[in-house]
Amino acid sequence: MRIAFIVTAGAGVAALAFASSAAPTNAGPAAITEIPASCASCHALKRPENPTVDRLWSRKGPDLWYAGDKFNREWLIGWLQNPTTIRPGGVMWFQHAKPGDPRDTLDTTAIEKHPSVDAATAAQLADALLQLKGDGLVTEGEYKADGLNMTMAKMSFGKLRGCSSCHQDKPGEGGVSGPELYDAGKRLRPDYVLAYTRDPQRFDRFVWMPRMSLSDADLQRLTGYIASLGKEEN
Ligand code: HEC
Ligand code: HEC
Repeated sequence: MRIAFIVTAGAGVAALAFASSAAPTNAGPAAITEIPASCASCHALKRPENPTVDRLWSRKGPDLWYAGDKFNREWLIGWLQNPTTIRPGGVMWFQHAKPGDPRDTLDTTAIEKHPSVDAATAAQLADALLQLKGDGLVTEGEYKADGLNMTMAKMSFGKLRGCSSCHQDKPGEGGVSGPELYDAGKRLRPDYVLAYTRDPQRFDRFVWMPRMSLSDADLQRLTGYIASLGKEEN
């Protein structure tokens, strides 16, 4: 299984190298076909034309069609070689949740380990993924990194806005129905964090993160807090 995967990924990358030397000016959408088909079997690499709740519930992996808006390159390269758990309950956490009091516990034994690739493949995959952009979903430079009150920001994430009921900002602390955010400073681009927090349904109209009416100051604050998580100085 693992060997088969590596062979497929290698073949995909060979195609990538071939495609880019054959058509050097053909950037943009062509990149989609360069990512191995094995990845596309679990991840949407193109925006679904007619998203449905069934699609969301039956998908095997998170959407990557806006990967270029979302990820930091260094993180991608490292993670693809050595994938760690981001969604503690899998993509659909309730398929693995055991209801409990005071909170649900997770049966993580059924969650498969993500395939990994070598360093050279990871760099090529990262570059191919970073070309996938969700037209206009994220505005470059919207997050302004100045004048942040970190105490207020942390409070907003926890007590005031309740983000921690679904997201962990420290390993083991917080809810599990959303992706962990404790290394989000390395993983995610701040402009994406802001855009997603403002309106998650623009990314998928059925996603279960609620859209809250947050002021711009609140959005900047929450983004600043999330962007600080997992950074060395924190
Ligand atoms: C068997 C299904 C499967 C295959 C094949 C697969 N993935 Fe994934 N991928 C997942 C799942 C499930 C997650 C979510 C892991 C988590 O959150 O802990 C994931 C997460 C990711 C993430 C992080 C996404 C995020 O939003 O946090 C990236 C990047 C990624 N995969 C890239 C790839 C690439 C590139 C390939 C092909 C080389 C690939 N995946 C193949 C299932 C798969
Ligand atoms: C009811 C649960 C819930 C609450 C409350 C919630 N989220 Fe989410 N959040 C989610 C889910 C579900 C996703 C997307 C899951 C996925 O991509 O697999 C998500 C995604 C995100 C992402 C994108 C992460 C990524 O890896 O793509 C950010 C950033 C985020 N949430 C921030 C927040 C902030 C800030 C708050 C508080 C204002 C908040 N969330 C409140 C459930 C929640």
